[in-house]
Amino acid sequence: MSKTSKFGSKFGTIAALGGSVVGLGNIWRFPYITGQHGGGAFIIIYLLLSFSVAVPLLISEITIGRGANTNPCKAFNFYSKIRAWEGIGYLSIITAFSILAFYSIIAGWALHYLIVSITQGFGDVSSAQITENFVSFTQNPYLSYLYTLVFIGLTALVIRAGVEKGIEKYCKIFMPTLFIMIILLVFNSMTLDKAKEGFLFVFNPDFSKITLQSFLDAIGQSFFSLSLGMCCMVTYGAYVSKETNIVKTGATIAITDVTVAILSTLVIFPAAFTFGIQPGQGPELVFITLPSIFGQMPGGYFFSIFFFVLLFIAAITSSISMFEIVTSYTIDKFNLTRNKAVVFITLTVCILSALCVLSQLEGSIIKIGGKSMFDFLDGATSNFLMPVTGLLTALFAGWVIKKAQFKSEATNNNTINNKIFNVVYMLIKYFLPIVISIIFLTATGLIKL
Ligand code: PHE
Repeated sequence: MSKTSKFGSKFGTIAALGGSVVGLGNIWRFPYITGQHGGGAFIIIYLLLSFSVAVPLLISEITIGRGANTNPCKAFNFYSKIRAWEGIGYLSIITAFSILAFYSIIAGWALHYLIVSITQGFGDVSSAQITENFVSFTQNPYLSYLYTLVFIGLTALVIRAGVEKGIEKYCKIFMPTLFIMIILLVFNSMTLDKAKEGFLFVFNPDFSKITLQSFLDAIGQSFFSLSLGMCCMVTYGAYVSKETNIVKTGATIAITDVTVAILSTLVIFPAAFTFGIQPGQGPELVFITLPSIFGQMPGGYFFSIFFFVLLFIAAITSSISMFEIVTSYTIDKFNLTRNKAVVFITLTVCILSALCVLSQLEGSIIKIGGKSMFDFLDGATSNFLMPVTGLLTALFAGWVIKKAQFKSEATNNNTINNKIFNVVYMLIKYFLPIVISIIFLTATGLIKL
């Protein structure tokens, strides 16, 4: 079934696609991974890989989606009669469900922290108490699941309202808000005592900390951050108008994405150095470390609200894009109305999330391969499903779709970007498959470098 809904304006398109890419990946994940790999040097590698590997894939996904103008499974059949290619779409649906299940849990934490920062703030609370509150909150299945449900419900409401009146409308409000919040937070960080150390950590590269693992983490992070390897951009591509300049849009979104990621490090590291916290802390950086910092900072009450509004907005604009991948498919496949599809998907995600929450509890019997469901889905998606789907999509774009057809779609009937297209095409056809394969095989331990 072809898609009749489209994003209504240029800004709306950038806001929706930008909303998808800017997410927990930028604000929660990027800073702690950068911290673990020593700061600036990792950022340089990240930028190089993002623009040479991830951006060409981003452009390919949008091009495939706009050309086919249908759901992510059918899109592949539009270009090839071989049914097996549809499998890329099915892998994406499984990935979208899996990520949504645990993404909604972390987003639920962000929502909880937003409420706490408004109602109580983090002043007068010791660091030990903040840690204890985090553990008792995440170990309380009812409370943490309640926030997950609220978050899934809010996501579903946006999706139910449709492409233009839901996704585009909310992203157009949320994305500028996000930028204002993050800029305010960066300005605040600049006033802190050890701001300089924080900035040097980000901008002064120390290559001695770089290992093979840094490259693996950089590419994994750039895929996740640019919403690649799960047909998200194929799905949104179908809503992009024929006049849109795909190459420019792809570049704008990628620049937005890395800008927010780097700004997030500028919010977090100056604060971490000022309050004597190691930048290499793991995932708890945002939920334990930052609240302790806000508690001690002048104006911390307001800044903590800004920060958790930022995190919540980033999370919801991304989760709606994952939700839409499945919605687009469900509507077509089962011939359902948008409403019914949303109810069905909401229930499925709620069940999966409940299993994740339960499996995270101490002593839980819900385990897959000895891991909690949360860790299993996280690992399976970022180490396996996303790189494999990304690789297959690149092979499809470079080797299956006819070059002339692909080019004509990407360059609006050969009217724009003809030269740059050739570079992008070479990257997609040769560079991407080689790089992703090496990284995938090394990450899974199948080859040792
Ligand atoms: N890009 C989002 C983030 O950075 C996550 C995401 C992945 C969204 C895949 C959609 C699809 O948080």
